[in-house]
Amino acid sequence: MQHTFNALINSFIDDKVGIADNFLGSLLAGHLADNLTSLHADHRLSAAGTGNSTNLLQDLTVRSDKIFWLDRKHDDAHETAFFDLMDRFVLHLNSTCYTGITGYEFHYALYETGSFYKKHLDQFRNNTSRKYSMIMYLNADWQTGDGGELRVHNGDEQQTITPLMGKSVFFKSNELEHEVLMANKPRMSITGWLKVD
Ligand code: OGA
Ligand code: NI
Repeated sequence: MQHTFNALINSFIDDKVGIADNFLGSLLAGHLADNLTSLHADHRLSAAGTGNSTNLLQDLTVRSDKIFWLDRKHDDAHETAFFDLMDRFVLHLNSTCYTGITGYEFHYALYETGSFYKKHLDQFRNNTSRKYSMIMYLNADWQTGDGGELRVHNGDEQQTITPLMGKSVFFKSNELEHEVLMANKPRMSITGWLKVD
């Protein structure tokens, strides 16, 4: 565990975009993917917005994914395992990097075929509590041509990241603009933010 946490953090320190290929074990990733598939079948996903609750905009020209917030209160074994993992990661991050993270929030996201999220920053203008963005992918198979890559704009560089099962991406929420390219098949993830409240 410690090893994967360090892999993500060291990769972040290297070039501002942390990537770890096996952050979520394939068992947990598979269960969370199944959860997302059932939530979608039960019509429990909602169109994502582009502001926070005081400034909620649902602009389908900016983003067209559908989301559902994870919550310990759901008492779902796999969400609980996910939160336990994130608690361990936050403890590790705070003790090794003095980040002072005090909270987090995570949602499932489904990009159906044709969905995308245009270039943006994750921090709201009227609320700076989101410090780090963290995304975990839940797609067992992703081929060139499937689209749906995460493109991070890092200075003059562009990094294009394939949304493959278990992979985690980690970066500062107020710093790096990024976008999700149009997905040519359904694309599943858990996205969230580590916060200082
Ligand atoms: C977001 C986001 C990226 C991804 O939800 O803010 O940028 O790869 N997601 O899903
Ligand atoms: Ni984003």
